[in-house]
Amino acid sequence: MGATTSTLTPIAASTFAGDFDNLYIFLVAVSALASLIVIGGMTYFLVKYRRKSANDKTAYIDHNHTLEFIWSFIPFVIFMVIFAWGAFVYYKQRVIPENPYVEIHVKAWQWQWEFQYPNGKTSNDLVAPVNRPVKLIMTSTDVIHSLFVPAFRMKQDVVPGMFTQAWFEANQTGEFQIFCTEFCGTKHSEMLAKVKIITEDEFKSWMWNDSNKGKPLAALGQELFNSKGCTACHSVDGSAKIGPSLQGLIGKERTFTDGSKRVADENYIRDSVLTPQKQIVNGFATVQMTSFQGLLNEDDIKAIAEFIKTLK
Ligand code: CUA
Repeated sequence: MGATTSTLTPIAASTFAGDFDNLYIFLVAVSALASLIVIGGMTYFLVKYRRKSANDKTAYIDHNHTLEFIWSFIPFVIFMVIFAWGAFVYYKQRVIPENPYVEIHVKAWQWQWEFQYPNGKTSNDLVAPVNRPVKLIMTSTDVIHSLFVPAFRMKQDVVPGMFTQAWFEANQTGEFQIFCTEFCGTKHSEMLAKVKIITEDEFKSWMWNDSNKGKPLAALGQELFNSKGCTACHSVDGSAKIGPSLQGLIGKERTFTDGSKRVADENYIRDSVLTPQKQIVNGFATVQMTSFQGLLNEDDIKAIAEFIKTLK
């Protein structure tokens, strides 16, 4: 498997783990070198300029422009390198690939994780294929949790009332630990799960085997969309009704009556369903949608979001 282990860093099993480790090792090295220069220099001067007799006087020391410039400029360069490098690593981790191999919904609650796949299958462990980008869409049904996979150098808060996202691409098969890393109550430390990275073929057969397979999220969403009366106001084929059509909504920029704009994503769908009066699409102010707060649970909302995503 070519697992890289060292005493400084945990096993590195994702495409961006190595970048993280290099930056971390650079930070440790720079800090060690700086400590050595400061403490070493101090010790040297302590000995060299120690008071030798009772009437030994401290010399009058004037300033030195060159020296002062150097000891300011060198740290400045080092800090700018750390900034640029850190931004690069952060950007690589935070920008989610546009076409991930699979999108997995993560639900967290006190004190458990649940991973749900597009075909409706659920699992208490995160099963994913190796060498493929995997996107996580996460929410909590109670308090703030945080999904942490040390082997992937991936950590993201899981927050009630919104979707947060993360992604990874595992570069080796195996089992890796998931921790909750936001203190969430009595059994916070027991809120554990495993990531199981398998080959793409194994993943396909695992996903489509029958255990724990529910209804595909998009199909469930379509049922809700029809049964909850959404169709009265929203078309799915681009035609105008009382409300805006939902065809091709995802990724599109919406303009609202107050002039503000927003690119439609899962969180926009959630907000539109739960607090529809907050942002009204320009030209649709006459009849206002009522909130579905309390009428749809987290699973319903993610299913509806998945259904709307299919309306290309
Ligand atoms: Cu969930 Cu700590």
